[in-house]
Amino acid sequence: MTKIIKIDPLNIDMDLLSQAADVIKHGGLVAFPTETVYGLGADTFNAEAVANIFRAKGRPMDNPLISHIADISEIERFAREIPDSAIKLANEFWGGPLTIILKKKNGIPDAVTAGLDTVAVRLPSHSVANALIKLSGTPIAAPSANLSGSPSPTTAQHCIADLTGRVDMIIDGGNSMIGIESTVVDLSGEVPVVLRPGGITPEDMRSVIGEVIYSGEIEGAPRCPGMKYTHYSPEAQVIVLEDIASFEKYRENGKKTCVIAKNAPKLNPSADIVYDVGADDREYAARLFYLLRKADEDGADVVFAELPENHGIGIALYNRLYKSAGGRVILK
Ligand code: TXA
Ligand code: MG
Repeated sequence: MTKIIKIDPLNIDMDLLSQAADVIKHGGLVAFPTETVYGLGADTFNAEAVANIFRAKGRPMDNPLISHIADISEIERFAREIPDSAIKLANEFWGGPLTIILKKKNGIPDAVTAGLDTVAVRLPSHSVANALIKLSGTPIAAPSANLSGSPSPTTAQHCIADLTGRVDMIIDGGNSMIGIESTVVDLSGEVPVVLRPGGITPEDMRSVIGEVIYSGEIEGAPRCPGMKYTHYSPEAQVIVLEDIASFEKYRENGKKTCVIAKNAPKLNPSADIVYDVGADDREYAARLFYLLRKADEDGADVVFAELPENHGIGIALYNRLYKSAGGRVILK
């Protein structure tokens, strides 16, 4: 049985949220809201509970999890070396959409790190996530709360659709504001490397710690174990178009066609389904995963999605779109 509770992020009912913390304390699984996407959480230090996360999601065991903490000082429980860059980035961007990879300390279950010598840590900004971690009295290991392979959930309804019957509790805390997963930056080597782009951009980090490498779609072996799996895929075929107005050229007869575009009303497209993603890439990012799921519900066969800008959150948005599209990107 999966219990669903509703928590207002602006006025948290601590008694009700304590029920979720009790589930975590007893080794259960709770889907909870964060500012990026919903997470599926368990006590980081309970290896059996963490193993159940993989079972519930159908996630490959070689894909490590992020541990979510409620206070910067808890980083010391995870890392055997804490470089200055970690402190600087944490002070600047936590709580927020940034995950830091560090050399791990002994005592963290192998299930969390997939047996790697490094560990991923993040302090979210979402009030419900932070209160849940505090009430649970332990860091919470959590991947995104979707079934493996489907788009990350940005509403409780997405978690309910994917995980009912598979987890103990789902907390409905409204929409995730950012809408795509956190930036993952690896600080365990000589030079910081962005393994997954997100809400905190390489430029943001360079202004605080200097050199940061981000090589876009890295060829060859993926450094972030999760990056090798197909991700963010709806049932419909996704095609990214730089010139979204040209979608008619690529349209096929008999296929239900969906267009996702910024300022879509201005474009006046003749697609079967049109989703407007507002004026800029921030709004686009906030709605992307929601709309990819909606396209399936609305029976779309093909989704034409507008190419985002090549800076700011547009970089992360492009990364997710590229993956949903399996690399089908048409430039002008
Ligand atoms: O915004 C987010 O990061 C959300 C919320 C719930 O916090 N979480 C999330 O988790 O997206 P997940 O598991 O879907 O993605 C975590 C990524 C995976 O690609 C994983 O391979 C990578 O982080 N990762 C975790 N530990 C790592 C490590 N030690 N070294 C390299 N990559 C790691
Ligand atoms: Mg995920």
